[in-house]
Amino acid sequence: PFEVTLARTGRTLQVPADDTLLNTLRRHGIARDSSCEQGWCGSCETTVVSGTPIHRDSILDADEHDDAGTMMICTSRATGTVVLDA
Ligand code: FES
Repeated sequence: PFEVTLARTGRTLQVPADDTLLNTLRRHGIARDSSCEQGWCGSCETTVVSGTPIHRDSILDADEHDDAGTMMICTSRATGTVVLDA
C-alpha cells in the first residue's frame, strides 16, 4: 500500500495493494478520465507534484517519464506518498 495526497484539496487517501490509484480516487468520489485502464492509452495521465511513482504503463520510457512529470494512474503505483495535481 501507499498514500496519495490530492494537491487541490489536501486530502490524503490510502491506496490498498489490491486496488489501483484510479479506482481508489473513484471510490472516494473523485472523478478521473480513463479509457483502456491497462496503461496504454494515456487518458488517465495525471501530473505528479511530488513523490516517487512506480511506472507500469507502456506509453513512456523512463526518460520520458522524468521529462513529463506525470503518471498513468490506472496502472502505476508509488512508494511512500505521491502528491498528484488532482
Ligand atoms: Fe489508459 Fe490509463 S486509462 S493509460
